[in-house]
Amino acid sequence: MNVLLDAATIQARVKELAGEIERDYPDTGEIHMVCVLKGGFLFMADLIRAMSTRVTMDFIAVSSYGSGTKSSGEVRFEKDLETSIENRHIVIVEDIVDTGLTLKYLQEILRSRAPRSLRTVCLLSKPSRRQVDVPVEYIGFTIEDKFVVGYGLDYAERYRNLPHIAVLQE
Ligand code: PRP
Repeated sequence: MNVLLDAATIQARVKELAGEIERDYPDTGEIHMVCVLKGGFLFMADLIRAMSTRVTMDFIAVSSYGSGTKSSGEVRFEKDLETSIENRHIVIVEDIVDTGLTLKYLQEILRSRAPRSLRTVCLLSKPSRRQVDVPVEYIGFTIEDKFVVGYGLDYAERYRNLPHIAVLQE
């Protein structure tokens, strides 16, 4: 596998993103981070450790892919949040935005629950694959249309634990 983004590069960018997010919420009490499982778990863990203590968090799970490398276009809702997001500042934490279908669906659901604000941070974006227009306020890296694994991202549930992001050879 070819390394696309090494661990040090990812860590440096995650710290920058954490700083950007905190600067955008200057005088609010709390930023409620909503991690999209499973892929977002490592990114979330590093991101929140680079932020101050006014962070709270919850987890949600949707799945849009089968076990292969192509999106099915279907989004399934697997696990809901545990607490209400009404009137809170919400930041969705995703590993990757590809077609945008998953994020679009998630944003619609969360927006219907009347948060005070709703923003999204994605570590990776593949703009050439986008099928729907979806707002992403913070993007770590824009990448080409290659199937990537590591740092939370899997191929058939493997490679999520890699500290770097690699291109899976076809
Ligand atoms: C991946 C990724 C995003 C989504 C992006 O999740 O974590 O949620 O696909 O694709 P899209 O923009 O084309 O909708 P996946 O369904 O593979 O679940 P996982 O996070 O559990 O691996």
